[in-house]
Amino acid sequence: MPRTVYVNGDYLPEGDAKVSIFDRAFLMADGVYEVTSVLDGKLIDFDGHLARLERSLSELDIQKPDCFDDLLEIHRELVRVNDIGDGMVYLQVTRGAAEDRDFAFPDPEVVKPTVVLFTQSKPGLADSPASKKGIKVISIEDIRWGRRDIKTVQLLYPSMGKMMAKKAGADDAWMIEDGHVTEGTSNNAYIVKGDTIVTRQLSNDILHGITRAAVLRFAREAQMKVEERNFTIDEAKDADEAFVTSASTFVMPVVQVDEAVLGDGTPGPVSRRLREIYVEESRKTAV
Ligand code: PDD
Repeated sequence: MPRTVYVNGDYLPEGDAKVSIFDRAFLMADGVYEVTSVLDGKLIDFDGHLARLERSLSELDIQKPDCFDDLLEIHRELVRVNDIGDGMVYLQVTRGAAEDRDFAFPDPEVVKPTVVLFTQSKPGLADSPASKKGIKVISIEDIRWGRRDIKTVQLLYPSMGKMMAKKAGADDAWMIEDGHVTEGTSNNAYIVKGDTIVTRQLSNDILHGITRAAVLRFAREAQMKVEERNFTIDEAKDADEAFVTSASTFVMPVVQVDEAVLGDGTPGPVSRRLREIYVEESRKTAV
């Protein structure tokens, strides 16, 4: 069964969906996106993703699409028609398709944003085998642009990072700037030392993860100690535990950083507990 996707107001079979070759996301990576996970047919942290979308659009002066206020309904309809139990909804908004290629932004009165949404089915998402085993990460230099707080579709370097990790026999890469970990290629990064969870503070250097916000709130509610500060890759190698968070992986334990095996090489108790709490609490507030 082909998926039904959403493009600029229409629900279409995926094979019939079309976007112009002049779309600015295609030519200039001039677009932003969100990924919202689905558990039991319900959306996790939807309000957070919508709020971040609004902020990303505003930081780039992309006008809010006319369907902005209908986005919850559109997400739900796609989940329904595609019969998604567990999985994701991908949403992309671009500055639209001007008549020709031009570095200058087109007139927003004339060129309307392009809006695309599609679903990805991932049965058993909350129970993934990787979350039981943990993942290995390598460190790579962070050579991305300076506005990583905006969720743009410029994902070439993160894709290259994943390939570097694969080539090295690992699962993902943590990016390093001035000796400090910024984040993973598509997730926020954490270490645990003793009873303290450490993750980089929010700034333009990292994406303000929606999962990060929820996980830190749950950790504090569970009386865990949280420090939001820079940490070095050497601290990470010397940590008791590490993990990453994102909408698609929730809380994913990290068991190796470069050559350093953390603890006994299996997911640590803090990571496991936080994953449990996150999945349990998120199911309760899913919409
Ligand atoms: N990535 N940092 C980066 C660079 C990311 O790309 C992501 C999400 C995160 C975590 O954000 P959140 O918790 O809001 O998902 C942090 C998504 C899942 C992706 O690109 O598929």
